[in-house]
Amino acid sequence: MLNIQLALQKAKSNANDRWKQTDSTPQRAAQQVTRQPTAVPSTSPVSAPAPVHALPVARPLGENWESLKQWAPDDIALRENRVVTLDHSDAARPSFDMLRTKLLQVLRQNNWKSIAITSPTAACGKSTVSANLAFSLSHQVDCRTVLLDFDLRRPSVAKTLGMKNPPSMEEFLSGKASVNETFVRYGSNLAIAANDKSVTHASELLQSATAKAALSAMQVRLEPDVVLYDLPPMLAFDDVMAFAPSVDCALIVTAAEMTTGAEADICEYELSQRTKVLGVVLNKCRFTPEKYGY
Ligand SMILES: Nc1ncnc2c1ncn2[C@@H]1O[C@H](COP(=O)(O)OP(=O)(O)O)[C@@H](O)[C@H]1O
Ligand SMILES: [Mg+2]
Repeated sequence: MLNIQLALQKAKSNANDRWKQTDSTPQRAAQQVTRQPTAVPSTSPVSAPAPVHALPVARPLGENWESLKQWAPDDIALRENRVVTLDHSDAARPSFDMLRTKLLQVLRQNNWKSIAITSPTAACGKSTVSANLAFSLSHQVDCRTVLLDFDLRRPSVAKTLGMKNPPSMEEFLSGKASVNETFVRYGSNLAIAANDKSVTHASELLQSATAKAALSAMQVRLEPDVVLYDLPPMLAFDDVMAFAPSVDCALIVTAAEMTTGAEADICEYELSQRTKVLGVVLNKCRFTPEKYGY
């Protein structure tokens, strides 16, 4: 944890004090510090040979999971898009595994399932973190994870994973496509609903009765332990505000040398009015923690 804090401090000072808390919100500033943001190092696309995917052996699938179309990620897309949690040798993987384990502990302690992943502004790494977390969770054989691309205006999970011809999230949320038509299965315990068509009335769709019904159907059919919603940036539109009350908790992804303290603070405040804020991930951190001899 000390090294993470060191990395944070370096990132903070490099960003010309952008992360400094404002005086007007001392309480939230304190909360943010005690929550100890998890740092994810800045990574470059890897050019190593394709990793061999060791699929975890999970509990019996059950016919609802078995009937989902099987899918395998495109290794080149994963490498290019910094999805590292299927590659045992990648140096960035332990950061995501630590994040996963912290997350799982909090979820289990509180009996929570659904997590919104958002950021103050675009390109902080929400989709990258969501995908890495999803695959990291897939290694937990006793845990069923569902990942949904809910950035309806600028969907990118399909592209990040190299998924061809993804389904339409709009059709799923408006009740025109079923769970089986929308979700694909990786291994035995990760289901993914990607999308590549943007939706203009995203916020209204997220708040609609048909969306609520579609998500209930998903819960009943897949009985997930963890549901990750990859959402749009919080400050750009009202989508996150609209959907936040529907989730148990939220994770804020910030980017080192990009996210300002004020942006992180507003985002945290707005989210905390609507759901529980799990914590802050400091992504794209150029100061990697020291290795501990492994
Ligand atoms: N830790 C990281 N280090 C370097 N680049 C990253 C990191 N995380 C994400 N990126 C890159 O930043 C860009 C935006 O990431 P993305 O996950 O699509 O952001 P968002 O979903 O928040 O808009 C992508 O090109 C992605 O590969
Ligand atoms: Mg995204």
